[in-house]
Amino acid sequence: MSAQFPAARPRRLRRTPALRRMVAETRLAPADLVLPMFVKEGIGEPQPISSMPGVFQHTRDSLRKAAHEAAEAGVGGIILFGIPAVKDGDGSAADDPAGIVQLAVRDLRSDLGDAAVVMTDLCLDEYTDHGHCGVLTGAGEIDNDATLERYASIAVAQAAAGSAVLGPSGMMDGQVGAIREALDGAGYPDVAIMAYSVKYASAYYGPFREAAECAPQFGDRSTHQQDPANTEEALREVFLDLDEGADMVMVKPAGAYLDIVRRVRDAVDVPVVAYQVSGEYAMIEAAAERGWVDRERTIMESLLSIRRAGADIVLTYWATEVARRLAR
Ligand code: PBG
Repeated sequence: MSAQFPAARPRRLRRTPALRRMVAETRLAPADLVLPMFVKEGIGEPQPISSMPGVFQHTRDSLRKAAHEAAEAGVGGIILFGIPAVKDGDGSAADDPAGIVQLAVRDLRSDLGDAAVVMTDLCLDEYTDHGHCGVLTGAGEIDNDATLERYASIAVAQAAAGSAVLGPSGMMDGQVGAIREALDGAGYPDVAIMAYSVKYASAYYGPFREAAECAPQFGDRSTHQQDPANTEEALREVFLDLDEGADMVMVKPAGAYLDIVRRVRDAVDVPVVAYQVSGEYAMIEAAAERGWVDRERTIMESLLSIRRAGADIVLTYWATEVARRLAR
């Protein structure tokens, strides 16, 4: 045979769908997906979120129905965000045993049993009237250590309601340690912590702030969330959280931070979670609505890429839809 032809032909393994499927390195499975859900106190009907088509602020009843559908599709878990009817400076609804998230957790635990993991986001911004992730000093700054006491109390309330995994997302220093100590002291040593270890001060959270009604009334989150310019401090945050007792670590947002997902995956021996956030969802939905990208293909590629970068678990608002598609 003439030497002018290539001996190596990578295209051989790309020739048919069966060949491509057999050699694929990364796969998506329903169990890797976690659905973030919003439940709001005091509404009669689910409320659509204009910047997140297809996502709702649920009533307790509509949440039960949607959570059942997610579990039936095989999603790995659900993470709940609560929006109380009344907000105040301390976010006192957050650790009220009769607060909306606590009630919703009880509902879902009794409905779902072990069909999907019921988890809770643990933060104050949905509960405070000023929209910040912690309580404030007289000067209007976030009081880190006073906030830790609030987080500890919220952790116990969520665990008592039956949440299996708590996701502290407020980026306060020492939050994982404070929560772990509170859980252990209150008799919940088996409740796990999925730490939002690497959370950037990101513009991609815009639509979430409509969904959770938690835009800060003044200032921003850049004194506690990370600077998008940095990688090394992401690893520092991860190791601090693991030292403090985190069971899993998260990188957030996902799509614009795939390099960070990979760095973290290579550095730790616990599950790595990535959060495909509201802005990532909204951008694909908006472009697809205009016919500028193929919706299904873009969604699947975005999720596959997050898994390929090294995330074991992905939080995505498309979890139920994608889990159903994967089952087909
Ligand atoms: C804070 C929290 C936020 C998100 C999850 N938890 C918002 C923020 O930090 O401002 C954003 C999630 C998303 O954009 O989908 N409780």
